[in-house]
Amino acid sequence: MDTQFYQLKGTCSQLIVQVNEVAEIVYYGRILKSGMEAGNALTALARPIPYGRLDDDIPVSLNPQLARGQFGSPGLEGHRNGQQWAPEFIITAVHHTERELVIESQDQRAQLQLSVSVTLDQHDVLQMQQTLTNIGEKGYSVTRLANTIPLPERASEVLSYYGRWVKEFQQTRTALTAGGFIQENRRGRTSHEHYPAFMVGPSGFNDEQGEVWGAHLAWSGNHRMKVDVKADGRRVVQAEALYLPGEIYLESDASITTPRLYMSYSDAGLNGMSQQFHNHVRQEILQSRVSKPRPVHLNTWEGIYFDHDPDYIMQMATQSKEIGVERFIIDDGWFAGRNDDTSSLGDWFIDEGKYPHGLLPLIEHVHNLGMEFGLWFEPEMVNPLSELYRRHPEWVLGVDGYQPPTGRHQYVLDLQNPAVFDYLYERLDHFLSTYPIDYIKWDMNREIVQPGHGGVASGVGQVNAYYALLDKLNAAHPHVEIESCAAGGGRIDYEVLTRTHRFWTSDNNDALERQQIQKGFSYFFPPEVMGSHIGATHSHSTRRTHAMSLRGISAIFGHMGLELDPVKASREEKAAFHYYVELHKQWRDMLHHGVTYRLNLDDAQQQQGVVVVAKDKSQALMAITQLGMGTYSLSGRLRIPGLEPEKHYQITLIDAPQGVNDIVNRQPQWMQETVTLSGEWLCHVGIAMPLFDPETAVLIGLQHIVS
Ligand code: GLA
Repeated sequence: MDTQFYQLKGTCSQLIVQVNEVAEIVYYGRILKSGMEAGNALTALARPIPYGRLDDDIPVSLNPQLARGQFGSPGLEGHRNGQQWAPEFIITAVHHTERELVIESQDQRAQLQLSVSVTLDQHDVLQMQQTLTNIGEKGYSVTRLANTIPLPERASEVLSYYGRWVKEFQQTRTALTAGGFIQENRRGRTSHEHYPAFMVGPSGFNDEQGEVWGAHLAWSGNHRMKVDVKADGRRVVQAEALYLPGEIYLESDASITTPRLYMSYSDAGLNGMSQQFHNHVRQEILQSRVSKPRPVHLNTWEGIYFDHDPDYIMQMATQSKEIGVERFIIDDGWFAGRNDDTSSLGDWFIDEGKYPHGLLPLIEHVHNLGMEFGLWFEPEMVNPLSELYRRHPEWVLGVDGYQPPTGRHQYVLDLQNPAVFDYLYERLDHFLSTYPIDYIKWDMNREIVQPGHGGVASGVGQVNAYYALLDKLNAAHPHVEIESCAAGGGRIDYEVLTRTHRFWTSDNNDALERQQIQKGFSYFFPPEVMGSHIGATHSHSTRRTHAMSLRGISAIFGHMGLELDPVKASREEKAAFHYYVELHKQWRDMLHHGVTYRLNLDDAQQQQGVVVVAKDKSQALMAITQLGMGTYSLSGRLRIPGLEPEKHYQITLIDAPQGVNDIVNRQPQWMQETVTLSGEWLCHVGIAMPLFDPETAVLIGLQHIVS
């Protein structure tokens, strides 16, 4: 086959794929304005062959193959009864359109067919997926099927995620030297530990500068993601769903398709990358599924936990309305026998002791107040102490003859068992059909151990069955919005977002902890899908106390809500809640459609900042948080990116902690008098950073002034 070059162009990034015996990405970077040099590319790019290696150059293809002499991790591992474990695919067809390249290949001997699709959209987000089909008569076992994308050798640093319950989306940097970087998640959901994403680039990239490639695997189960550094210096990104032993067995004509690997390249630092991902999420994943403004929530969990009294909850609803809440959600504790977390999951019937008149009077009360109504479920789970478990112990996900450990006193249900699937669908559908429910908080509070179905491992099947349950419910109840929650942020990815509408980012409502969590979240997701609630004065997860302004300002920059009991709040607190809720509503449209920039502050150790700029650059809202004591007695200048260089903006201090002037002799002058500056000045020269106490935040508005 003659060598051919194909290109995919986004708006700022471009991909060039060289196709002869195999397909290889030879360029993935900024867009080339002068074209592809197709005539000379081969001569320009042909690699030298060093001593001590194979006699031919071995490209890193879209699916690296052992048989061709790829010593790195192959794109496919599998066998047919011990044979055909090193297939060699020959390209049979290439389909190329403006946005998509599909490479079809076959190994006639191994009786396998592989189809790899790469798309690059106008938001500069790339997607790769591979489908392997068994065209033989006997079954084929697949151990691994990975998406592979090479990166240039200058990519020398990875920014990746780690975390735990109540501390999601923490970030760390790793130098890419010999060997590379790998992360594996075996917790059965995206996990608090290893969110399936990383960013990689020449070392030193930051929010405002540098080249960066962001990678995200859209899969809600176990995964492996890595960047291999080969002995010749080449770097290769690989991402895959992690298959358990024996779990993927393709009968004749059966196929397996990988989850989508999403990537985005930017030479404008992490902010550029994030903005591309945000645009993709907004226009391709959320589309028109959420067309109205995101309603402000009141979620009852930290307010009353399992203590449900409908009269009292109605009072909570009434007071929520006064605060400005628009959607009222009853969390855990409403169903038969559920008084603590040791029992009753699976028994999705109203607790008639707590709700003698059912849920309807409460829902009507909420609706009459003009709010939407939401209800909590944790469908995939069962407590051993439940009626469901008593009747169907065999519905538990596990391996016959072994006892899976409990987590939060509960087991996982085997969603691939049609009886389980039908029972859960019937229960959920019953509630959504019987009651005017607008929203579901869909929780998943434990990790999956022993995902066995019919004796064989079935982690992938469990995730797919979960997707199928969501799909069926969405089809029957298209107007019901769903939150993906898993003990906070344990199940967050693009694939689940195609079926849900927002995420519960963390069970940690401590506004200081939220800074890191929300920042980490913001790299791949826009603010409107980030559940961010004002919690009680004393944070329930850290026991720390924070000023109202820090709590309010931190919650404003997401899909806002409250996570507390408004009945117990003082008059002053309620007024403050109302103030922040109204402030959010005033800016909501801009925040949820604008362009997010994380700020590179001079005292980055102790300060964090974000600005959201309106699409037309007419206004912006910015929050600066002082995390700890300033490193120096002054914190330098505040420079604000993203504004129109030639436009002039009036800067207004919208909100600051009480006593912001107490322990300073003088704050910057712009805090006292109106100042108007150009976008160019604000971006490159800046304004003096105010001085404020640890664990406080200020909110600053910018408004374009027509002179
Ligand atoms: C999880 C969720 C919480 C709450 C509880 C209820 O921890 O993350 O928000 O819904 O479950 O049990």
